[in-house]
Amino acid sequence: MAKQCAEIAFAHTTQFHSEPAEKLAARVLAIAPRNFRNGGRVYFTSGGSEATETAIKLARQYFLEGKEPARYRVVARRQSYHGSTLGAMAVSGNVARRSPYAPLIPEWGHVAPCFCYHCPFDKHYPECHVACAEDLESYLSANEASSVAAFVFEPVVGATLGAAAAVDGYTGRIGEICRKHGILLIADEVMTGMGRTGKPFASEHWDLEPDIILTGKGIASGYAPLGAVLVSRRIVEAFERGTSAFMHGFTYQAHPVATAAGNAVFDYLEAHKLFERVEPAGALLRKALSELGSHPHVGEVRGLGLLQGVEFVRDKVTGEPFPKEASVAEKIRLAALEKGVLVYPGQGCVDGIRGDHVLLAPPFIVSAEECGLIAYALRYAVDRVFPS
Ligand SMILES: Cc1ncc(COP(=O)(O)O)c(C=O)c1O
Repeated sequence: MAKQCAEIAFAHTTQFHSEPAEKLAARVLAIAPRNFRNGGRVYFTSGGSEATETAIKLARQYFLEGKEPARYRVVARRQSYHGSTLGAMAVSGNVARRSPYAPLIPEWGHVAPCFCYHCPFDKHYPECHVACAEDLESYLSANEASSVAAFVFEPVVGATLGAAAAVDGYTGRIGEICRKHGILLIADEVMTGMGRTGKPFASEHWDLEPDIILTGKGIASGYAPLGAVLVSRRIVEAFERGTSAFMHGFTYQAHPVATAAGNAVFDYLEAHKLFERVEPAGALLRKALSELGSHPHVGEVRGLGLLQGVEFVRDKVTGEPFPKEASVAEKIRLAALEKGVLVYPGQGCVDGIRGDHVLLAPPFIVSAEECGLIAYALRYAVDRVFPS
């Protein structure tokens, strides 16, 4: 970053390309699903919310380029988070984060999440035949599919549901439904992208080829504000056949110093083979946490790779949550901190208001001993918050 600052700290993208941005784009596309390689492009932003905004506008303009001007709605899922700006809030289904701004944001449609522990249909996998995916089909059939431009979802729901991963069969069916209705599929991998779940992008666990992938967070690992919109070949080609100009932009997009940070992070990830460490480290963490699962107030330990969540319940048999005012997740956070472990607390996983969970997302270099420490701190926290 210092070297890049000394060479050239900033050049506006209306007139200039920069070497670190070009290089990082090529590297990110090389680890993305097949349909992004050979002809995909990357739009760098300063974070995840800007990436979501960009994808919403990109989807809209894609249909203008293709002479389908009626399409503009971006359908999403309840119990989701896609960012804090107004467009991103419009698609986010996170009740607490969304509700204060309800008058300011359009409602383009939300369908059920894929969340087996509190299945919105009270069904059981796999006998359910993935009813949550069918919910998109029913919604589109009943609600003017011809005005829908895209569907956006988190392959593993992070902050809102505490690491709830899609079940096998879900993403494939969602892809089919999107294709059938001629709408774009956007995978929000701001939290799950760049190796967090054990594959470069979580979509790759299910061989999913979304049309757009959003990423952020780990892409520059906190050294600089950076997000990215990965745009697949078919979208790029539609723009090339049309105006060739995306009517959108941020002054600091594809920032040379931020993308230099992204390259430095990538260098480190490659040199130390860190992507490869996630799956075994995730298994170690899961093993260390397994003993916690038998606690009467631990409802579920879930997640994928190094994105794990623990949900706390009042009644283990029914999955009934604690009342919101009990602030269980926050109390767990404070108690775990006493043992030097930071967790990300969340509330609302059951119905947007009730339901307490914590997210665990340790660095890719986490050791077996540290996984043990995380499990010990959580056990301590659980015993402290729920004294017998
Ligand atoms: C899935 C997801 N999408 C979008 C965002 C928004 O990203 P940012 O906070 O970088 O704007 C987040 C942030 O937590 C996220 O988890």
